[in-house]
Amino acid sequence: MIIGSNVRHYVKVSSTNTVASAMIREEKPPEGTVITASFQESGRGQAGNTWESEPDNNLLMSVILYPVTIKPAQQFVISQMVSLAVHDLVKIHSPLVRIKWPNDIFVADDKIAGILIENSIMGETLGSCVAGIGLNVNQTIFSAGAGNPVSLARITGRTFDLGQVSGQLMEMLDRRYAMLLRGETSLLGTEYHDALYRSGEWHRFTDGQGEFDGKIERVSPDGLLMVSRKNGTVSEYAFKEIDYIL
Ligand code: BTN
Repeated sequence: MIIGSNVRHYVKVSSTNTVASAMIREEKPPEGTVITASFQESGRGQAGNTWESEPDNNLLMSVILYPVTIKPAQQFVISQMVSLAVHDLVKIHSPLVRIKWPNDIFVADDKIAGILIENSIMGETLGSCVAGIGLNVNQTIFSAGAGNPVSLARITGRTFDLGQVSGQLMEMLDRRYAMLLRGETSLLGTEYHDALYRSGEWHRFTDGQGEFDGKIERVSPDGLLMVSRKNGTVSEYAFKEIDYIL
């Protein structure tokens, strides 16, 4: 087991990703080191957003990896691998789990987990990676304006032992990371596409030009979302260039 062989838990931190990055700089801990916290004072989300989480109710985890065989152009596979691990865990509790591009975990139309991957490049390959995961577990009330949040407790009607969920997630991450290390990137890609939210169906989207009917065709190897329109054209979008109308 690589992921979870070394776990450090904190009661309160600024952000587990920030703690993990500082550790990489200062002491280069073993690969698979996991940082968890009961509470984050400055939890970080994608694109400079914040990540809110009630104390002691949810999983806040960052995993340190050294994926030195992965080239920068292939780094989206890390996102796929981590998304699939979280997807695997949520799937135990709901068949409606999907991965919303690039790496949000949804149950039906609600977000249950967010992922923030921060990679550093060293020459021709990745040097280190901090994979931060926020999984809503026992929180049942969310502040207005937080998107469509949901939790394991909300979808199942029961409360969970956070330590147990954390252990399960590390197992899933370890299994998916082992696939990456074995070079099973095309299988990870296939499974990612099979789990992709709203793929292959017509839905409303909005981009810089306004609203339109689009169909997700696939995600390119470098992580761009390819969406077709009814006139047959296909556009490629980077993160934040397109929004789903939920
Ligand atoms: C997103 O959906 O915007 C990504 C959210 C990622 C949140 C997690 S919680 C643990 C780790 N530490 C952080 O500060 N962020 C990630």
